Order: sequence, then structure tokens, then C-alpha cells
Amino acid sequence: MNDKFLAAKVNTSQGDYRVIVGKSILDTLGSELENANLKNKRCFLISDKSMFPKKTKQLHESLESQGFITNSFSIEFSEELKSLETVTKIYNWLADMKAERKDFIISLGGGVAGDIIGFVASTYLRGMPFVQIPTTLAAMTDAAIGGKVAYNLPVGKNLVGAFYQPKLVFEDLDFLDSLPEREKTSGWAEAIKHSLILDQDLFEEFYKNHDQIYKLDNEYSAEILKRSVAIKAKIVSNDEFETGDERIKLNYGHTVGHAIEKISNYSEYLHGEAVSIGMMVAANISLRMGLINKDLVNRQEEILKSYNLPVKLSGIALEDILEAVKMDKKNVGGRVKWVLLESLGKATISQEVSEDIISESILEVMN
Ligand SMILES: NC(=O)c1ccc[n+]([C@@H]2O[C@H](COP(=O)([O-])OP(=O)(O)OC[C@H]3O[C@@H](n4cnc5c(N)ncnc54)[C@H](O)[C@@H]3O)[C@@H](O)[C@H]2O)c1
Ligand SMILES: [Zn+2]
Repeated sequence: MNDKFLAAKVNTSQGDYRVIVGKSILDTLGSELENANLKNKRCFLISDKSMFPKKTKQLHESLESQGFITNSFSIEFSEELKSLETVTKIYNWLADMKAERKDFIISLGGGVAGDIIGFVASTYLRGMPFVQIPTTLAAMTDAAIGGKVAYNLPVGKNLVGAFYQPKLVFEDLDFLDSLPEREKTSGWAEAIKHSLILDQDLFEEFYKNHDQIYKLDNEYSAEILKRSVAIKAKIVSNDEFETGDERIKLNYGHTVGHAIEKISNYSEYLHGEAVSIGMMVAANISLRMGLINKDLVNRQEEILKSYNLPVKLSGIALEDILEAVKMDKKNVGGRVKWVLLESLGKATISQEVSEDIISESILEVMN
């Protein structure tokens, strides 16, 4: 077993699994699958259309050459298609192909694909083993790790789902070659967020070396991604079902981020862009609560800007944001759980933020 590309081991009640991160590492997939006890099993590869035909074919051939009999299916995924209809199409394909419980499923795609295919895997034949191969930076740093799988209902996002852990998360940077620039930028928001809430050294690294890191085409950027991934893996291992305050810290920037996405109908801002602005609001709140100083707010703003992320908001009314924040599903007992910064690399949670501070902190990010 080669541990060179091992970013983290996730420990969960459903079993432990490895998260592998590297560049051009497809030839190590077979041994990772073997290690995950998937040897001699049939593979059902389900891929995002954006990965078709070239990357799907490449992965399919690589699997076959490493001894896995593979069937593949490519289908379109998007937030609008994150529905029961798409889930059903995949069920039907698996049924047509006579997939059995001892076989396994691979998801190749972004967070939408991973969430849906993971949900299918959690339910088809009462659960089939599955492997995440994320192809967006956002999914690599976040969605693919942690076992949250879901689809949307017309009334709300991710309302039907489960905690269903993968057997392996395999992240090859080569899959990012075709990712649109804006999606890549958006993905950096979550990776930087991990450093802000939990790892000061990683933040300094992001800060100093953004030119090299941003491109994601070298070994060094893979090493940095690995460290960010390890943070998510650690949090999941410590708080698998989001019952404590640990996993909620990952929500830094998300309270206002979600509000922005919702108000703009999930069309104007990509998730990471909205979270970037949300992190600025959260930092402003932290400042006004006397938790951090202005210098840290400025450094956060600087780093987000250097990764081309937005830090200002326009075209949305303050009242709409306040209203949407109150409706956030993560609220407990009607009170918002704000994730704030206590220092660089350390987050804290507060339900005691006054309306005035919230309003002032939002106004500060408005143009
Ligand atoms: N399960 C979790 O813990 C978790 C965490 C965060 C987000 N999510 C979910 O993840 C989803 C967002 O995921 P996302 O940001 O990866 O977006 P996405 O899956 O929608 O992908 C973005 C776009 O890029 C395309 N694409 C994917 N990989 C590509 C590639 N390599 N080259 C070219 N195009 C590519 C996709 O087809 C899509 O059009 C949301 O539905 C969200 O709810 C889940
Ligand atoms: Zn997020």
C-alpha cells in the first residue's frame, strides 16, 4: 500500500476509509480498491456528462486494466436535476444491468453527482458499496468526504438523504483539467475556509504561495489540497452525525452564504462565491463581538481576493438577507448558530449575536 498520496483516514461507525489526493495517480486506483475490499467485484461507474466521453473512458479502461469488470453510465447532473427523477434513472440502469449487492458503485463527477449517486448507493438493494471520485475542487475539498448523500425536493435542497459513507475517496487532480475557471475559484473558498477555522499554518501557506497553489497543476498544490482535505476528514471523524459543535464549524460563512444563494435563486453566485462573502460577514461579526482584530479581517479579505473570490455584495436588500438568515435550516430553537473566528485557525460558535451587529456586519460588505 502506497501512503504517499494518503491525505487522511476517515473513521466512522460504518467503517474507516482512505482519502487519496494526488496528480496523475489513476494507476494506483486498483490497489486502493483492493485495500477497500472491492477486489473481484463488478464495478458500476456512473459519471457526470461533463466527464464524458474522454475522462469516463479513461477511467473505465484503467479499471478494466487493473482487473475490474466495469459497466458505465453517463448522465447529466445539475442542481436542477438533483431530483428523484435522476435517482430513478440510475436505479433503472442498475436494475437493467443486474447489479448485485456484492458489486460496487463509483461516482465520477462534482458534488451533485456524488450526492445523488451516493444516495442511490445507500438505497439500491438496501445499500451497495460506493467510491467517490470527485471532479470539482469543491467536491474534492468538501462534498466527497463525510458521507452526506441527498437529493432535492422542489421545496428545498437536500431534503431527502442519508449518512452513507464511501469505501474510498479518490482524488486525482487530472480530473480538474476541464473544470471551468470560475468553478475552480469557487472551490478555493471551502479550502481556504478550512484553514481559517482550523489551521493557521495552512492559512499562511495559502497566503504566501497563491500563484503556485491556485493553478492546481503541480505537486505542491496537491500537497496543499491534501492538507485542506485532511481537515474536513478530521472533523467528520470527530463528529460523524453533526451532533456536536465540531462539524458545524464547517459552516463558517455559510449562514449568510446560503441566504445569498437562496435570494438570488441559486443562479447568480456559485456556492463558494456566496460563502466567500458570507465569510466576510462572519469576520465582521467576530470583529464587532470583540473576538478578533481588524488586521485579521483585512488578511481574510486579502486572501479571498487573491484567489479571485468576491468579498462584496450588490443588488440584494439587507432585509432579504436578514429574513433568509432567520429561515436557515441549521437554526436551533429559532436562534442562528453563528460560526465566528476567535483567532486565525480557530472558530467558535455563538447564538448571542445581536440584530444590530448582524445588520452592521452585512452592510459592511455591501457596495
Ligand atoms: N455532501 C456534502 O457534504 C456536500 C457538501 C457541500 C456541497 N454539497 C453539494 O454539492 C453540490 C455542489 O457541488 P459542486 O460545487 O461540485 O458542483 P456540481 O456538481 O454542480 O458541478 C459544477 C458544474 O461543473 C460540471 N463539472 C464537474 N466536474 C467537471 C470537470 N472536471 N470539468 C468540467 N465540468 C465539470 C458539472 O457538470 C456542473 O455543471 C450541491 O448540490 C451541494 O448541495 C454536498
Ligand atoms: Zn459549502
